[in-house]
Amino acid sequence: MKFVLTVISVVSAFAYVQANLPAAAPCNETLCSLPHCRCSTTNIPGGLAPNNTPQFVLLTFDDGVNVNNIILYRQLLRNRVNSNRCRAAATFFVTHEYTDYTLVNELYNEGHEIALHSISHQVSMEYWRDANVNTMMREIGDQRSQVAHFANIPVNTVHGVRLPFLQMSGNSSFQMMASSGLTYDSSWPTNKYLDPGLWPYTLNFRSTQDCIIPPCPTGSIPGPWVIPMVSWIDLQGLPCAMVDTCYHHPHGADEEGWYRFILQNFERHYNGNRAPFGFYVHEWFVRVNPGLRFALERFLNMINNLNDAFMVNAKEVTDWVQNPVSVNVYRQRSCRNPLRTQCSPNFCGPLRSPIADKNYYMQICTRCPRVYPWVNNPLGL
Ligand SMILES: *[C@@H]1O[C@H](CO)[C@@H](O)[C@H](O)[C@H]1NC(C)=O
Ligand SMILES: *[C@@H]1O[C@H](CO)[C@@H](O)[C@H](O)[C@H]1NC(C)=O
Ligand SMILES: [Zn+2]
Repeated sequence: MKFVLTVISVVSAFAYVQANLPAAAPCNETLCSLPHCRCSTTNIPGGLAPNNTPQFVLLTFDDGVNVNNIILYRQLLRNRVNSNRCRAAATFFVTHEYTDYTLVNELYNEGHEIALHSISHQVSMEYWRDANVNTMMREIGDQRSQVAHFANIPVNTVHGVRLPFLQMSGNSSFQMMASSGLTYDSSWPTNKYLDPGLWPYTLNFRSTQDCIIPPCPTGSIPGPWVIPMVSWIDLQGLPCAMVDTCYHHPHGADEEGWYRFILQNFERHYNGNRAPFGFYVHEWFVRVNPGLRFALERFLNMINNLNDAFMVNAKEVTDWVQNPVSVNVYRQRSCRNPLRTQCSPNFCGPLRSPIADKNYYMQICTRCPRVYPWVNNPLGL
C-alpha cells in the first residue's frame, strides 16, 4: 500500500512539473537577488573587488571509488590544509557500480564532499539526453539515499550532481533537483564566459550560458544552482571542460610543462574576476600522467599557501555565493568540520544482478542487501 501511494505521488508530481513549468524570462536583477536567486553573470557576488574575493579552487573526481583510485586520493589529499588552517577539501561525483562504500565513508570523514553521478552511468548519451524527470529521480534522486545508506553518511551532506558524460537533459535533471532538495549541478561547461569567468547562478530566470552539450534547461526552475564548468584553454587554444579532455596537453612525464599549463589556466581566474577555478579530472588520467600528478601536487601546495585562495568543496562555493564576504572576513571564520561517522565494514556477495547474468560483491558500512542494488531498487531490498 505504501509503495502504491509512493508511486502515485511520484507520477502526479511528475505530471505537475511537466504541465506547469513556465519558460524562463530574461533575468531582472531587481527581481533576482541573493541568497536564493542570481542572474547568470560574470559579476562578482556582493559587488566585491577581485582582490577582496576569495579564489576558490574546486578539485573534483568522477566515477566509482575503489581500492585502485583511493591510493592516489590518499597520497594527494591526506592532511592537506588551506592557509586559514581549515582542512582542504575535494568533491567526489560517485557512481554506484564498483564503488567501495567503506572508502566513500573514509573520504567523507576526511572532510571531502560526496556528490551524485548516477546509479547506472549508462554508456548511451541518448539515454541521458532524453531522460525525463522520473528517470532522473530513479538514477540520481534515489542515489542520494543509496550512497548515504551504504557509506553510512548523513543524507543531508549530499548536495551535488554531475550528469554522466556532461550530457544535459534540458529541464529534467534540474526539476529532479528542485523536488529532491539538491543544491547544485556541476555538469554545464561554458566556452564563452572564460575571461572573465561565469560565477554560479540559479535558473529562476533565463540563462545566458552557451549550451555545449544540448539540450540545456530553458524553464524557470527556482532552487538548484548551476556551478558552471568554466573551460580551460589547451596548448593550441581549444577549450576543455575537464582536464582529461584537453586535446593538446603537455607530455605525460613533463612536470614543468604541466605545472605551467595549470598555472596559465589558474591565472585567468586569479588575475581576473576570481570565478571559482575548476580542476575537474578522472583519477586514471592523473595516474597515467606522472608529470601531471607531480604538477598537481605542487599546484595544490602553492594554493594551500596563498592567503586568498582556498581549496574547498563545491557546496562551500554555493554557500559563499549565497552569502558573499570579503577574503579577510572569510579567513577569520571557524572551520567547518563534518560530523564523523563510523563504518563497520561488511563484505557482501555474491549478489545477484537484476540486469545481467552476473554476480556482484560489495564492500559497505551497513547490513548486506538482498540483491545487487540498482536503478528502481537502490537499496537492494
Ligand atoms: C523546458 O521547459 C520549457 C518551459 O516549459 C520548454 O519550453 C522547453 O521545451 C523545455 N525543454 C525541453 C528540452 O523539454
Ligand atoms: C525589473 O523589475 C522591476 C520591478 O518589478 C521593474 O520596475 C523593472 O522595470 C524591471 N526591469 C526590466 C529591465 O524589465
Ligand atoms: Zn563519469
